[in-house]
Amino acid sequence: MQDPILLTPGPLTTSLATRMAMLNDWGSWDEAFNTLTASVRRDLVDIVDGVDTHVCVPLQGSGAFAVEAALGTLIPDHGRVLVADNGAYCKRIVRILERLGREVVVLAHAEDAPADPARIDAALAADPRITHVAQVHCETGAGVLNPLSDIAAVVAARGRRLIVDAMSSFGALPIDARSLPFDALVAASGKCLEGPPGMGFVIARRDVLEAAGGHSRSLALDLHDQWTYMEATGQWRFTPPTHVVAALRSALDQYLAQGGRPARLARYSANCAALVDGMTALGFRPFVEHGVQAPIIVTFLAPADPAYDFKTMYRRVRDMGFVLYPGKLTTVDSFRVGCMGDIDPAIIGRAVAAIRDSLTAMGVRRFAPD
Ligand SMILES: Cc1ncc(COP(=O)(O)O)c(C=O)c1O
Repeated sequence: MQDPILLTPGPLTTSLATRMAMLNDWGSWDEAFNTLTASVRRDLVDIVDGVDTHVCVPLQGSGAFAVEAALGTLIPDHGRVLVADNGAYCKRIVRILERLGREVVVLAHAEDAPADPARIDAALAADPRITHVAQVHCETGAGVLNPLSDIAAVVAARGRRLIVDAMSSFGALPIDARSLPFDALVAASGKCLEGPPGMGFVIARRDVLEAAGGHSRSLALDLHDQWTYMEATGQWRFTPPTHVVAALRSALDQYLAQGGRPARLARYSANCAALVDGMTALGFRPFVEHGVQAPIIVTFLAPADPAYDFKTMYRRVRDMGFVLYPGKLTTVDSFRVGCMGDIDPAIIGRAVAAIRDSLTAMGVRRFAPD
């Protein structure tokens, strides 16, 4: 049976070569696996041109584990963190910080609006006690791309520290550590790099990480501990996700052979254009305006037609070979379609046709939200 195409923010559709790379067993103490880990860590830092300043610390678990590890390790007890909140993953950061007992200042934004550097600047000016800004780059909740370099410039100019959740942008959207000042950036294996899920990683400034010993109240999520152990031994502190690391190595080889980050962005942008064009031609309306839409995942407003029902559409589209994603907006009914993974515009075209045919069979006559 053929797997369905995953049009989601992860897990994603991966290439056959990536899946094949999981057919071997690796010993966690074995030199061959340590070499694999070291090469993956090096290549991940390279993607953001951070070799001179930053190091990569991989961590077992999904992306949220790495986000929590970064926040818990790099922000000291007395830290006070500004979060410009324009969606679900920003809200998750706020929840993590509250659990960690770090002070949070939330700057609320609309879900379809990018984080505003001027408002961030004003908030930092008004509150000198804010030590850090935690910023989501691509807010996968609605699909908004936040202006990371402008925000980074504002944060640096105010002398504060920046931690970036680049989960669904790393590897596709440009981030250059030489010109964009950040203390840490968090991402994961199963996003734009198109590996399987299971490994998060943090690209952190070496000096900042060196100074972060003893901050973490968690053992398993102590990034400083994970890093120092790995530097000293070449090994993971606790059982590594060996198959995921091996598959990520293969995914990185394919990524580099395909032209690296610019090529990945070009393919995702073509996917996104095919998706938005195809869906708007049917009458759907994207929730986010074109200028702030990240080429990663698109939120569409639900059709107003009374015959529409997400779960029924989902099942029918699934039967035709495509997995959609529910919406994550707090106020309006919506659903999401991802542009990432080992897919191209031709596949997107077939997915749009599957959505059209499923809704037509359900008796939906109008796909517009009003
Ligand atoms: C912006 C962002 N942050 C964090 C995460 C991590 O979430 P999870 O741990 O569920 O993979 C995701 C996953 O899609 C994301 O898009």
